[in-house]
Amino acid sequence: MSRLSERSPATGSGSEDLARLEQASRELDPPFALVDLEAFRNNERDLVRRAARKPIRLASKSVRCRALQQRVLATDGWRGTLSFTLPEALWLASCGFEDLVVAYPTVDRVALKELARLETGAITIMIDSVEQLDFIDEIVGRRATPLRVSLDIDAGWWLLAGLVRIGAKRSPIHSPAQAASLATEVVRRKGWELVGLMAYESQIAGVGDAPPGRPVRALTLRAMQRLSGSELVQRRAEIVAAVETIAPLEFVNGGGTGSIERTTNEPAVTEITAGSGLYGPGLFDGYRSFEPRPAAMFALPVVRKPGNGVATVLGGGYLASGPGDRSRLPAPHLPTGLRLDRQEGAGEVQTPVLGGRADDLRIGDRVYFRHAKAGELCERFNSLHLIDGDRVVEEVPTYRGEGHCFL
Ligand SMILES: Cc1ncc(COP(=O)(O)O)c(C=O)c1O
Repeated sequence: MSRLSERSPATGSGSEDLARLEQASRELDPPFALVDLEAFRNNERDLVRRAARKPIRLASKSVRCRALQQRVLATDGWRGTLSFTLPEALWLASCGFEDLVVAYPTVDRVALKELARLETGAITIMIDSVEQLDFIDEIVGRRATPLRVSLDIDAGWWLLAGLVRIGAKRSPIHSPAQAASLATEVVRRKGWELVGLMAYESQIAGVGDAPPGRPVRALTLRAMQRLSGSELVQRRAEIVAAVETIAPLEFVNGGGTGSIERTTNEPAVTEITAGSGLYGPGLFDGYRSFEPRPAAMFALPVVRKPGNGVATVLGGGYLASGPGDRSRLPAPHLPTGLRLDRQEGAGEVQTPVLGGRADDLRIGDRVYFRHAKAGELCERFNSLHLIDGDRVVEEVPTYRGEGHCFL
């Protein structure tokens, strides 16, 4: 056990968790990444509870560890994978995964040709324009079976007839008429089978409505999410109705970790997507309706003590994607009471942590950090150490550990 937990048991929240993690990982040399299985299972059950019996499709980008994805998919309440690239979906299919929907458009020619040779129908690809259909038709020509395709619908909230658009810049298909027109084009073409719709409301699911220390922003976000949510309930239902007059749909996918209970109430939606809520990363702390437990972490060793109130750990600059602001930085988690330096943030080769508790840290002690996002952590580590109670029960490879870097 590192001397930190023996020497000065922390008071307040986190001391038990710290002692447990220290006991479990005492033989490991940091840097290493871990998943606390008790927290992970707790988060998994909570996602299923919130989905209120609608199946959840697992967002693989938010996990990026095949062994954990298999575990989750073997659990009641989960059905199928929302994959993030076609090469990833092809790999997962070759490993026995079924019902894979690739969530983002693909122009990977090699992967598309491989898809066209498959006879299983395990993979559905995503489109939102005729140009993408043309591109794919030109690449693949003849195919073993029709390509299964889903339409991606813009779930953003438009004001002033579209002059102001709130939500991620994704699909250009916003109205029922546009969706029906694209659906008509798909069914008109040979070699295509329209099987699904997806509409992801990032402005609700991916934006916490209780940002810490920002009460005015919280109120604005809640108002925006309420109005956007009621607009979307109606529009999504109209789009589904319009497309179903052209082709029967196997699934209508919506939502994400941050919106499950809201999205599951929509009769037009047949399944919800979730992933991040399993690891419970930093960006998912600021939601009122749920509170995932921190399940994924990485440990870094203290390698120097530059002065009072500061200890410096090796590495740490594992920033999350998105706007380049402070919310994307990892956060020191255990011991509690540590913070990053505003000047240095999290560095490529070293990261100072500040605060009174930094003085208790000695060379060789560990600091446990949380990543701001979920699956991106796995691009930094070859394996995850699975901790049950105070023991490491298994070490499982991440995608990176299996030699894959899809994005
Ligand atoms: C298409 C789509 N659906 C759902 C999600 C939600 O995933 P998570 O639960 O990991 O936030 C995302 C996340 O970016 C997404 O891109």
